[in-house]
Amino acid sequence: MYKIIPVDPFNLVLFGGTGDLARREILPGLYRRFHVGQIPRSSKIICVARKSYGKQEFSDFVKKAITENLDQHLIDQDTLAQFLSMVTYKSLDANDNENWESLKQSLDLSLITAFYLSVGPNIFSKIINNLDKFDLIRPNSRIVVEKPFGHDFDSSRELNNILSKVFSENQIYRIDHYLGKETVQNLMALRFGNVLFEPLWNSQYIDHIQITVAEKGGVEGRGEYYDNSGAMRDMVQNHLMQLLCLVAMEPPSIFSPDAVRDEKLKVIRSLEPLHHTDIVLGQYGSIGSEPSYKEDAGNPRSTTESYIALKCKISNWRWANTAFYLRTGKRLRKRVSEIAVVFKDLPHSIFQDHPQINGNVLAIRLQPNEGINMTVTIKEPGPGGMRLIEVPLDMSFAKSLNQEVGNLTKAYERLIMDVIRGNQTLFMRGDEVEAAWQWTDKVISCWEKHRKTPQIYDPYTSGPEEAYMLTNKDQRRWREIEI
Ligand code: BG6
Repeated sequence: MYKIIPVDPFNLVLFGGTGDLARREILPGLYRRFHVGQIPRSSKIICVARKSYGKQEFSDFVKKAITENLDQHLIDQDTLAQFLSMVTYKSLDANDNENWESLKQSLDLSLITAFYLSVGPNIFSKIINNLDKFDLIRPNSRIVVEKPFGHDFDSSRELNNILSKVFSENQIYRIDHYLGKETVQNLMALRFGNVLFEPLWNSQYIDHIQITVAEKGGVEGRGEYYDNSGAMRDMVQNHLMQLLCLVAMEPPSIFSPDAVRDEKLKVIRSLEPLHHTDIVLGQYGSIGSEPSYKEDAGNPRSTTESYIALKCKISNWRWANTAFYLRTGKRLRKRVSEIAVVFKDLPHSIFQDHPQINGNVLAIRLQPNEGINMTVTIKEPGPGGMRLIEVPLDMSFAKSLNQEVGNLTKAYERLIMDVIRGNQTLFMRGDEVEAAWQWTDKVISCWEKHRKTPQIYDPYTSGPEEAYMLTNKDQRRWREIEI
């Protein structure tokens, strides 16, 4: 069993406190941390939103959020009652001056206080200005900002400017929940905690790297937001680029927030601009009575991509000429996220019956079944000649660590505890986000310049046909999207 280290008592003020993220992830995640003894009882969680809620009505909302989103074995009535007594509601409109003073009165600002903005970026600045105006910010305050962190480079810079007027960079926590996933952090442990991989981790031994984040769900319910973003802005600019950074970065000299983020930033800045033939866009069609992307988005003329595949290159000494294939999409065959490091084929085979031996593949699975899997070539058991087969060396975390998959700490709860501890390693720094947007903007303007439009693909497949060409033309193949 891992050790639980309690955090100091804190205040968490959650703007957007009745929203979808609060309901599905944040409140259940906080309950879990409380349940395992990590959150002291004297902490306060204040959900803030415009709507007015009666005390009982709000308590029922929190209870429902927890019971509907967590395994029942985690819920015991005493703990739940204690947790509910820590969570209160404050009705507040970011646009006016009312109730900010009473929010301030309800907080002991000598405690660590995290203001979590789980709201649309259009009201970021109003909230931040009011936090300042009503004197709620102290040196031990932190601000947590959800994505989307801007829509392009200019808007991300503007958001950074707004934040930096009242907070210093070491108080700002820009969330990318992918960084909170168990396996994503394990990638760093794997690379920098083992002597085995690092000497091979370069263009001399690695043929290419594939990063896949496939989702089975469509955009139902979020059509309006998504239609303005598309897969590039919604997933690649943040989640996939963060994965790319962790897999490609140089070893930081120390595992500290700035050392790690400095190395990630160098990767982003070394990304080459893409050629339009290195970009594939797709959009899901309909199947049976299930709506197409255009119908889900409520926009019959939409040309937004619900799928994107890219071939990227990093121009530095370690990765010269190594292809990084990235793809993500909605309504695909399965919900699978993985990073696959494909090593080069053997330079020479000594086995006459096997003139060519495939390179090993190291697959780091983010979800489902978090773990690491390596294909190795061995002799097929049995008498007779030397027949070779490829078998998986499988290290599923749940199995290896004897844990239920559901018990692995979830991304949001881990990240919130890091906010309270003041550990920024798994959060994006301002310059990193801006650099990611700069590259993203170039990719988008490249496809716009070439008037690329998404190819329609059949739902629950591996995406558009054109995506196959991206790897086939390099004599490579995408890995199957399978669990
Ligand atoms: C979010 C995107 O950031 O990540 C969603 O906005 C996407 O469109 C989600 O569905 C995927 O997260 P996860 O953790 O379910 O892979």
